[in-house]
Amino acid sequence: MTKKIFITGIAGFLGSHLADHFISNGYSVSGCDNLIGGELNNVPAEAEFYQYDCRFRNSMARITKDMDIVYHCACTAYEGLSVFSPHFITENTFGITASLLSACIENEIERFVFCSSMARYGTQDRLPFTEEMQPRPQDPYGIAKYASELTIKSLAEVHEFEYVIAVPHNIIGPRQKYDDPYRNVASIMINLMMQGRQPIIYGDGNQKRSFSFVDDVIYSMDKMATTKGISGEVYNVGPDEEFITINDLAREIADILDFDLKPVYFPDRPQEVKMAACCSKKIREEFGFKTKVTLREGLEKMVEFIREKGPKKFKYHLDIEINSMKTPETWSKRVF
Ligand SMILES: NC(=O)c1ccc[n+]([C@@H]2O[C@H](COP(=O)([O-])OP(=O)(O)OC[C@H]3O[C@@H](n4cnc5c(N)ncnc54)[C@H](O)[C@@H]3O)[C@@H](O)[C@H]2O)c1
Repeated sequence: MTKKIFITGIAGFLGSHLADHFISNGYSVSGCDNLIGGELNNVPAEAEFYQYDCRFRNSMARITKDMDIVYHCACTAYEGLSVFSPHFITENTFGITASLLSACIENEIERFVFCSSMARYGTQDRLPFTEEMQPRPQDPYGIAKYASELTIKSLAEVHEFEYVIAVPHNIIGPRQKYDDPYRNVASIMINLMMQGRQPIIYGDGNQKRSFSFVDDVIYSMDKMATTKGISGEVYNVGPDEEFITINDLAREIADILDFDLKPVYFPDRPQEVKMAACCSKKIREEFGFKTKVTLREGLEKMVEFIREKGPKKFKYHLDIEINSMKTPETWSKRVF
């Protein structure tokens, strides 16, 4: 019988790519999104779409009825902003997970796959981050993600459903929002440079990250939903190659765009983790993960995507709850 999969955040970046993937693999796909971050035209035509907010538990119970698998991608994944808008980000990370879980348990779904985040690791003594490390999240977003994981585990023990924790990090690709001043560094830089504007860098720009292209990670994310016998496992999702500073990321993008680079530096953002890279050994060994698209190629594809849609003005679509001396001026003074 055709398996039914429900994807929250289906109009967003990862959710819509997962939906495309599962549809082309013969699954019946439905999903919801409140469009706070996603776009309606990202949702594949073959998917049944509900413009619903995951906060509403009874609505979630209605639309997840008869589902086999629920892939929970919905979130406002604003790590940097979460120390200035902790109420909203926590509610919309942890709160919506509890609401959705309650609905899914009522409907006796088989497996719940949760998109956590590398923010769960915080700052560790060693790099890269491996799945068995004790999480030490250091901002409300990371804390809300880890609290969600603990809640899923607790409820799975009582109500006996399968769950898997996916830990994505710095995935790039078409459909990623690039007019959002709070998130997606590579896309923001490309959008700025295409407008003839200099990229903005927080701190000295020597903080390091690893980026992966979306097509490279979707297969492993599928396996988290469909492989038998892996309930309770945590999987980092992304590469552990091409660990790059934000300064070098700006240089690489400028080179692709043939842009005369003179970045504008702003103070560090509070609680930003300096060195963040996840080990991908586990998905390489269990799911055959392989980086096929290099960082340069991935950035070139992003440039193509943004060029096609056209550069856009940044939209300050979220409220800043705490406006203080510590709030980055890039946001309080709308510098982007
Ligand atoms: N892309 C990455 O590199 C990355 C890194 C770490 C973690 N993640 C996690 O992966 C998931 C997907 O991330 P993404 O990059 O695709 O983000 P995204 O913003 O593109 O997608 C999230 C979607 O969720 C929707 N949404 C938010 N709150 C909602 C609510 N209350 N009800 C219904 N819909 C809601 C948004 O409108 C958006 O379409 C998130 O949980 C995020 O925390 C992603």
